[in-house]
Amino acid sequence: METIKLDIKNTLEFISKDVLSSYEAKAQTCMNTLENGTGAGNDFLGWLHLPSSTSQELLNDIKATAQTLRENCEIVIVAGIGGSYLGARAVIEALSNSFAWLQEKKPGNPVIIFAGHNIGEDYLSELTTFLKDKKFGVINISKSGTTTETALAFRLLRKQCEEQRGKETARKVIVAITDAKKGAARLTADKEGYKSFIIPDNVGGRFSVLTPVGLLPIAVAGIDIDQLISGAKEMETVCASDNMTENPAALYAAVRNELYRSGKKIEILVNYQPKLHYFMEWWKQLYGESEGKDHKGIYPSSVDFSTDLHSMGQWIQDGERTIFETVVSIEKPNHELHVPSDEENLDGLNFLAGKRIDEVNKMAELGTRLAHVDGGVPNIRISVPVLNEYYLGQLIYFFEKACGISGYLLGVNPFNQPGVEAYKKNMFALLNKPGYEKESQAIQARINK
Ligand code: PA5
Repeated sequence: METIKLDIKNTLEFISKDVLSSYEAKAQTCMNTLENGTGAGNDFLGWLHLPSSTSQELLNDIKATAQTLRENCEIVIVAGIGGSYLGARAVIEALSNSFAWLQEKKPGNPVIIFAGHNIGEDYLSELTTFLKDKKFGVINISKSGTTTETALAFRLLRKQCEEQRGKETARKVIVAITDAKKGAARLTADKEGYKSFIIPDNVGGRFSVLTPVGLLPIAVAGIDIDQLISGAKEMETVCASDNMTENPAALYAAVRNELYRSGKKIEILVNYQPKLHYFMEWWKQLYGESEGKDHKGIYPSSVDFSTDLHSMGQWIQDGERTIFETVVSIEKPNHELHVPSDEENLDGLNFLAGKRIDEVNKMAELGTRLAHVDGGVPNIRISVPVLNEYYLGQLIYFFEKACGISGYLLGVNPFNQPGVEAYKKNMFALLNKPGYEKESQAIQARINK
């Protein structure tokens, strides 16, 4: 089987090859630190060998649960936020028909809707109204089991599901994915007798897509989770190599750290396939939450090209030279479509007649790469043979491994997220949550000043 490929040649006029070689030993040290569990955040390394240690028994249990939801629901709501939803959304959107939600619903193939990732009253009100006459189920995903956004949505959805479908059916179509023992989601699941899956203690949210957190929603969407794991497993082997030129995760981590050191503070992840939009969102969380700490870290951003060439293209070509690009390029589309010839040729497009749409897209990519490199933007390219479960599994593991190495190269703990608590503390104080009395007083005094 082929693997995804990393091409860094368009970074080499911006960083020196010799300096890059000096990262080989450093990257190896970081890999050993990960492997031996001797670095910061070492209680969150469960993702490292997850693909090779996922049992067929767990996969079968996930598939059987997915089948129950598929058979009993027209719609499945996936309630979760951050690491408890982005991975599933990334894979489902990448591998689903772009217009699935507009197509006639087939029995046994529910539409997936995401909730619990915002506190928009209109969003939740429109969702609950839409669900009024629908046979829906809910997957409630929260490792802590106490995240406000998700818990709020689940409270609404659970009540509605029980009212519409009766407690007994609700019990069949509500599934919890949460901690083994702690948190409100576990409490409810055990009390109500919901089917539940455990999020391993040693896997943090943003590294959890290959646990039931991602796998159950992905399986409900009819996507082959065996293939996803199998691709990730292949990358686990490839990314274990101690030869940096053969290890794409180590090489990517080294190049982006050296670019950062040389002043490129922003990385733009680029796709030329709109289906990858949410994959970029998943990646942004993975790298943003892992590296942005101690006043350090590359700012991860993303664009969908060629769409955003018509909005962000000017900045990327010509704005402050603090950026580099990483392009995820799909070599072979899953469909074939040719540009038709037109006798009148009023649009002047006959020079493209007979060509595949993808050929035009690939030339847009090449033309953009050359222009951006000329404009001072280093370009890393990751080529993916086909957009399918197997290669997405590879891509997921590749980015996870590279993130662990990269965080250690940067000198931060890539597995915690202390900064995320700051807004929660203020929000709870402002909402007078019991236990936050002191903070409430302090924040009121600050506001009234
Ligand atoms: O990566 C993380 O740890 C976070 O993004 C969490 O996944 C997110 O905050 C949701 O947390 P929880 O799963 O506890 O509801």
